[in-house]
Amino acid sequence: MCQQCDDLNHLFDNNRAWIARMNETDPDFFDSLTRTHAPEYLWIGCSDARVPANQIVGLKPGEVFVHRNIANLINSSDMNVLTVIEYAVEVLQVKHIMVTGHYGCGGVKAALGDGSPDMVEHWIRPIRKYALRHQDELARLDDQARWDRLCEINVIEQVRNLCHIPSIRNAWARGQRLELHGLIYDIRDGVIKSLDVSICSREQADRFLTRCD
Ligand code: CO
Repeated sequence: MCQQCDDLNHLFDNNRAWIARMNETDPDFFDSLTRTHAPEYLWIGCSDARVPANQIVGLKPGEVFVHRNIANLINSSDMNVLTVIEYAVEVLQVKHIMVTGHYGCGGVKAALGDGSPDMVEHWIRPIRKYALRHQDELARLDDQARWDRLCEINVIEQVRNLCHIPSIRNAWARGQRLELHGLIYDIRDGVIKSLDVSICSREQADRFLTRCD
C-alpha cells in the first residue's frame, strides 16, 4: 500500500465513528435517506474549504442540494451550474436558491490583482467586470473594505444572473414557489447574513435586472 493511502486512514476511521454516532442518535437515519431526496434548498457557494454549506446553517444530510465553485459564480456558459439549477428547480422543486459568498474569498481577491494562473484568470473574468462596473464605489474604500464590498457585489451579481435563467423564469411562470437569495458568510466570526436581494417572481426579477446599483 502506498504512503498516500495510509495518509487517508484517519478519514476512514472518522467515517466509521460518524456512522456509529448517527445510528445512535437516529436509528432510522440511513434508511430515511434511501427513501427520499427532497431538499428545500439549493446552495450555490464557494469551493473554499472554510465555507461548508451544511454545518454553517445547521442542515443535516438530505436537507440542502449543493453546488460549489471558485467564487460562487453562475455563468450562462457553465453547463455544470445550469444543470444543477435545472435539476433542483424542475425535479427536486427546491423552494429556495441561496447564492452564498464569503468575505475573504480568494477568487474575488484575484480579480482585484494583476494576474492568476490561466484557468483561474479565465474563470474570474466576470468578477473583474463587476469591479469595473462598480469602480466608483470601490475606489473610495481602503484595500480590506474594497475586498469585502466586492465579495458582496459578486453575490448580488450572481442573483442577477439567476434572474435570467430560463428554468427559474419558467418555474415562476407556471406558479411554482421559488425564492432567490443573496447571502454572505464571514469567515472571521462565522456569521451569515442576507444581502437583501431576495426575489420570488418574474416581475421582481425584471425590476431587479433594470435596477442600477
Ligand atoms: Co471563495
